[in-house]
Amino acid sequence: MNKYKVGIEWPNGTYTCAEEGSDWLLMAKEAGVAIPTGCLTGSCGACEIEVDGKILRACINSIPNKKQGNLKVEFAQDPYW
Ligand code: FES
Repeated sequence: MNKYKVGIEWPNGTYTCAEEGSDWLLMAKEAGVAIPTGCLTGSCGACEIEVDGKILRACINSIPNKKQGNLKVEFAQDPYW
């Protein structure tokens, strides 16, 4: 089964392509974006990013399939941290 390639716009202004299912943290590193991490198990929230307006934890999620357009990534901001 073919995997879709997804275009990603990063907060540092770079644009990359990645296969759906790829690891967010690795793809961010390749794009020169340092996503903070802590537990790497999905419990601390240090790695939260905003993808097309939805908050997700980069360490436990993979790049989703998006058939049209790019994914836009921003750093999530939690006012309680
Ligand atoms: S690094 Fe802790 S939730 Fe991702």
